[in-house]
Amino acid sequence: MTDVVTLEKVGATGLIAFDNPPVNAASHALRQAFQNCLETAAADPEINVIAMYGKGRSFVAGADIREFGTVPQAPILPTIINRMEEIATPVIAVIHGVALGGGLEIALGAQARIGVGRVRVGLPEVLLGILPGAGGTQRTPRLTGLPAAIEMITTGRHVAGPEAIKLGLLDRLSDGDPRDVALAMAEEVRAGTLPVRTVGQIAVRVDPQQIADAKAAVHAKAPHLYSPLKCVEAIAACDQPILAGMDIERALFRDCLDSPQRAGLIHAFFAERAVAKIPERNAIPRRVESVGIIGGGTMGSGIATACLIAGIRVRLNERDAAALERGRHAILSNLDGAVKRGKMKPEARTDAEHRLSASTVLADFDDVDLVIEAAFEDMAVKIDLFTQLDTICKPGAVLATNTSYLDIDGIAAATKRPQDVIGLHFFSPAHIMKLLEVVVANKTAPEVVATGFVLATKLKKIAVRAEVCDGFIGNRILTHYRKAADYLVLDGAAPQQIDDALEDFGWAMGPFRANDLSGLDIGYATRKRRAPARPATERYSAVPDRIAEAGWLGRKTGMGYYDHSTKPAPSNPGATSIIDAVRAEHGITPRAFTNAEIVDRYMTAMIVEATKVVAEGIAQRPIDVDATFLFGYGFPRWRGGPMQYADTIGAATLVDRIKAYAHDDPHYWQVPPLLQRMADDGTTFADINADS
Ligand code: CAA
Repeated sequence: MTDVVTLEKVGATGLIAFDNPPVNAASHALRQAFQNCLETAAADPEINVIAMYGKGRSFVAGADIREFGTVPQAPILPTIINRMEEIATPVIAVIHGVALGGGLEIALGAQARIGVGRVRVGLPEVLLGILPGAGGTQRTPRLTGLPAAIEMITTGRHVAGPEAIKLGLLDRLSDGDPRDVALAMAEEVRAGTLPVRTVGQIAVRVDPQQIADAKAAVHAKAPHLYSPLKCVEAIAACDQPILAGMDIERALFRDCLDSPQRAGLIHAFFAERAVAKIPERNAIPRRVESVGIIGGGTMGSGIATACLIAGIRVRLNERDAAALERGRHAILSNLDGAVKRGKMKPEARTDAEHRLSASTVLADFDDVDLVIEAAFEDMAVKIDLFTQLDTICKPGAVLATNTSYLDIDGIAAATKRPQDVIGLHFFSPAHIMKLLEVVVANKTAPEVVATGFVLATKLKKIAVRAEVCDGFIGNRILTHYRKAADYLVLDGAAPQQIDDALEDFGWAMGPFRANDLSGLDIGYATRKRRAPARPATERYSAVPDRIAEAGWLGRKTGMGYYDHSTKPAPSNPGATSIIDAVRAEHGITPRAFTNAEIVDRYMTAMIVEATKVVAEGIAQRPIDVDATFLFGYGFPRWRGGPMQYADTIGAATLVDRIKAYAHDDPHYWQVPPLLQRMADDGTTFADINADS
């Protein structure tokens, strides 16, 4: 094993190099070796400048996140960094790639910071539910002033080199090999042309009003979150002597470490990365430079927009010229929106428009690398299209369907090349939502799966591998827990109470508000399709059907569960009358539910179906379900996803809950065998993640 930190003596320069791939995370081993190297260099009378740099792709990407949740082992970073400020030999930091979190804090302990190439620095701890705990909240404001430090630390954003220079975080920008730059800069320190100063000794003034305003602003922006407020509290201590301020910072850091939000957010960080670990990851993906999209509706035009933004050539197909023109118009206005939101430069928008072509003739798809069918959600329509695509598309073209629920094995069977057929399930609006479910059918070739994942990366999306079933991972689970909300309404809760309770829990939007947004006709059509297969023992609420049949389809018609003519939208009295009538037809006497009961039932229903999805192998692991809900369904990131949340409750409690609910409805509330086993063994979804 190579040393994770090395000290190399070149003349009078002590070069300290971090070498802990892939990102030089400051693990316990790195901290220990770093401390040793620093002390050795400080004690060496021949060394008069110490220069730190990183090997590999970065300086240091921060503390080793995997160690959070375990007892921190000495030496901790603050001790090393404070010592660095104390020693007589000047220390400089040469930063390439990124210096994030503890990485930037190490650099702030140095007496000069030099950025190399396209460097980025930042304190992203808040995104992990913690705060910079190694002096970041104390030294950053000493360089940048209070407002910039508050902004950087409470958003966690990365700052590029030129801005870091303006803010005072970096002293110089340079180019070249980091080791060479380190040697050259050490020479400049000796020559007196690169000034050095100890950041901890700089005085800074704290304006209590700015602190109060910052607290109010972070609370208004994210009322559920714990660590942004703690970040501001820590920054407020920066007018104290550095060591006193750091004591306050450390205490607040520990509070954050102990919070369940830290566990949830770190789980979400790893979920984002774990989903890429698929069995097909070594297959060679096919090249995708052009994409044909069938259907210019909301979904098709959103997918086309995402592809154009990613630099891909797009050919749009619609049935007739008018529909084609509507699709083109939607795409162009999406692109305009991207320019307005600062996601795209105006020149890039013009270039994207040139890469868009449109045709009503499907035969024009003969040369595209990948087709995404986003036509009407009807099996006969899809079978017809894929039969045609089979004769039109070039050999090796990937044939993808964007279906949300339909049987992709059946669609693939309509072609003579089922190995090329895959599901690419986008989420609306497709140019904005992060999730892409890559649905692997029975005969899909590994390289086609790999192509789906590479495409997702190009589109800046997070791909989750799913297998075929009605609704795949996300919509299958949604279909199940959505019923729990309808049952709650039947039994006495108002849609508005349910929405409010779930939004308090942290969901971006409650289920009824979400339905009003997406349109009540979608669920209506799906329920009609599924009606023949519905078991006789299943409880059925006619409320959503009656509301849709009344012509109230949500925001697009101005009325749904809510009346959208005013803001905030009150309940639609007509919908309330329908609810009363349906309850009366079922002979139900409405009862009161607390918000906690609502959340428990809704979340337990979700966990039940998610457990089955994991047990059946539709999702590879529990963490894939978590990623699906975090990136596609507005699940609160700080809770880490439904499976991580389930672990905070425990399988045994969940089983007890399900059994209690089953007294009233034994068909709907059944304990999944996997959950029962977990309750018996005392195991968790995290254990399943670790084993797979
Ligand atoms: N600790 C442990 N592992 C880390 C890590 C960290 N700080 N940062 C990245 N990794 C791991 C990733 O999990 C990934 O592992 P796998 O290959 O096994 O999936 C691998 O390193 C590569 O990471 P990415 O796939 O994300 O690579 P990238 O090039 O796309 O991005 C990055 C690199 C910008 C550094 C990104 O990984 C990142 O943002 N990392 C987190 C940085 C961060 O939040 N630092 C603050 C840590 S908290 C702290 O420092 C507290 C303190 O005050 C002391």
